[in-house]
Amino acid sequence: MNVQSIKGLVQPDRVHRAVYTDGALFELEMDRIFGRAWLILGHESQIRNPGDFFTTRMGRESVIVTRHTDGSVRVLVNRCAHRGARVCDAVAGTAAEFVCAYHGWTYGTDGSLRGVPLPGGYDRPAAEMTKGGLARVPRVATYRGFVFASLAEHGPSLTEFLGPLRASFDDFVDRAPAGEVETAGGVFKHAYHGNWKLVLENHNDTVHPAFVHASSIWAAREQPAAAGEAYSEIGVRQMLQNGAPWEVWENTGLWVAGYGHSWMGDYHDDDRLVAALDHPGFAEYRAALERRLGREGTARVLGELRWNSIVYPNCSFMSQFRQLRVVHPIAVDRTVVHAYSFRLKGAPEQMFRDTIAFSNVVNGTASPVLTDDLEVYERTQHGLGGRRTDWVYLGRGHGGDVAAGDGAFRGGTGTSEVHIRNQFAAWLEYMTAEA
Ligand code: FES
Ligand SMILES: [Fe+2]
Repeated sequence: MNVQSIKGLVQPDRVHRAVYTDGALFELEMDRIFGRAWLILGHESQIRNPGDFFTTRMGRESVIVTRHTDGSVRVLVNRCAHRGARVCDAVAGTAAEFVCAYHGWTYGTDGSLRGVPLPGGYDRPAAEMTKGGLARVPRVATYRGFVFASLAEHGPSLTEFLGPLRASFDDFVDRAPAGEVETAGGVFKHAYHGNWKLVLENHNDTVHPAFVHASSIWAAREQPAAAGEAYSEIGVRQMLQNGAPWEVWENTGLWVAGYGHSWMGDYHDDDRLVAALDHPGFAEYRAALERRLGREGTARVLGELRWNSIVYPNCSFMSQFRQLRVVHPIAVDRTVVHAYSFRLKGAPEQMFRDTIAFSNVVNGTASPVLTDDLEVYERTQHGLGGRRTDWVYLGRGHGGDVAAGDGAFRGGTGTSEVHIRNQFAAWLEYMTAEA
């Protein structure tokens, strides 16, 4: 597909359905978006010590993220330099070297070729043929402990790429009394039959909860307020707030920035929040935070109420609730999402229990909330497969956005579709830029 025809798919307030359904466009997205952008891979706490590693994907590339013996973070393409087998099949672990299961070629934690069985039998030395081992992902960088990489040799620095969204990561980490977070409690994984963009469009969509999540709102309204520190209170509160009045949603802040990123403010205004957080653990947590930041600093950190932050094109996270989701496009109509929970270092264990309670409701595979979103992604994908109508309308709030400083814009109201239009502006930029 040439540049001109790609440009025709994205208009100021609508996009052609092909961006969700066309397999050839999906392949181009893997090259031009997932092959260029900084992608979040995980967190440094997953590879604490030399030899620690985890495997993940960067678009269609399978990669191994390692802590090398010199302490540096390396990202290696998980494809044997001999005949192409995936070298490491484990999700995570600790290894001195990686041995390919096919013919035993061996690689160091920096990807260097360490050994080849029967080396004399090849026409040329293996090290020369393979340029020294596993291919390395050219650019790797971290921000506040979060690990990113880019498959492109050149491009904006990670700092420039994140822009004002860095404040969301700062909020995530500054909430920890020890000034650090770590992944904990395992990973929720879910998949849906729909395009990868649908989940990123949904997380800052403030009109959908009242409809998509109606059944859990009704169920939550029938729950009596729990006395004391009920484990389920955090979850009930979340389900209830999905049914907040329209004026709450309209007045929720919704910001967008360069490269397709966006974030939204909090929409929780209920007394039950206070009740849910008012446990001895929270008081202890606040005191621990005050020891590092002082009273004012703590009030500032706890007063920063961000909801979802979207790092386009592969991440959505909730700094306030220590949740981070990585989006893996598998095919034009198939997506996998991995959801991680984080522990605030230096906080009482009760705080982590709150995190898990929240995660079970919002990201859990048995969640009464998430399952409804997945259903609606599949219905959308199904509807977009029809050929009678080509255009997808994204006009809500169009023309009403206002500049918000530091290159960001704010939607005229919290129910604007500005974040989706902003994602497509970035999409178009990636898809039509010269190699
Ligand atoms: S494919 Fe890996 S050693 Fe042959
Ligand atoms: Fe939802």
